[in-house]
Amino acid sequence: MTDHFAVVGAGQMGNGIAHVCATSGFAVTLIDVSAEALAKGRATIEKNLERQVKKGALEPAARNAALARITTSTALDAVAGATVVVEAATERRELKFQIFRELDRLADAGAILATNTSSISITEIGAVTKRPTQVIGMHFMNPVPVMALVEVIRGLATSDEVNARTVDLCKALGKTAVEANDFPGFIANRILMPMINEACYAVMEGVGTPEAVDQVMKLGMNHPMGPLTLADFIGLDTCVAILEVLQDGLGDPKYRPCPLLKKYVAAGWTGRKSGRGFYTYPAS
Ligand code: CAA
Repeated sequence: MTDHFAVVGAGQMGNGIAHVCATSGFAVTLIDVSAEALAKGRATIEKNLERQVKKGALEPAARNAALARITTSTALDAVAGATVVVEAATERRELKFQIFRELDRLADAGAILATNTSSISITEIGAVTKRPTQVIGMHFMNPVPVMALVEVIRGLATSDEVNARTVDLCKALGKTAVEANDFPGFIANRILMPMINEACYAVMEGVGTPEAVDQVMKLGMNHPMGPLTLADFIGLDTCVAILEVLQDGLGDPKYRPCPLLKKYVAAGWTGRKSGRGFYTYPAS
């Protein structure tokens, strides 16, 4: 049986995941409570597919076929019929718990219930459902159509079968799965966020300007983006939220979010999406 995906949340990550499902030949239902977010998500997918066509990476016919595989809905009960549900809603614990309680009620009995959370415990998300063996983390990286990695995180109760099926699904999506166990931040953010946070402290303490810090990491360590450009790209509010999960979950003050980072978020300077973070961005 061919898999049918449902992606919950049409934002930056959700539309990227739907994009990759569709170009990999899978039917995908993209769901969001907001019709406006769905329209924006679809427009972003069209723009990014067009980018691939222009580069010669995708035939126009394949783009049209991919778009035809995507349906949208504002109702969560559209997950019925999906064999894999990937939740990519905003990174808030209570919201994710609420969505998983609903998914437990609405999704098909055998469906994999995956979450794209970047740091919230898979074990805790699984525990709000009556089927924690089927709950797993599928943590895609931004921009999803470009990045090769999916971190696959098993909760305490996740079954071996669901874990193995999820790793196979990542392959079918053209991605490389790397398996992690369920500890705060998993692997990616356990390592990435302390680096970004340290870059913020370096700016706050006047060690260097944001440009200098980014140049050092780009030219000296061959990172494609400096840590502060990357923080703006991820969203400074998301960075603070992940650092708080690390601090709470691991209990070590070394993870406390840098006060400068918190101040930027308090000012509404959340990075690229708001037009201003460590850098300013023209409205696109
Ligand atoms: N959809 C489709 N294609 C896209 C795209 C998108 N959204 N964004 C970029 N691309 C493609 C471009 O068309 C281009 O394709 P070709 O190689 O075929 O030419 C390629 O990606 C590179 O793009 P650009 O030439 O425009 O720009 P670039 O060379 O500066 O690369 C980048 C952009 C890929 C984003 C690169 O800067 C990069 O890899 N940055 C680091 C990204 C990163 O670290 N992501 C992880 C963030 S952490 C996370 O996501 C998880 C978390 O929990 C916080």
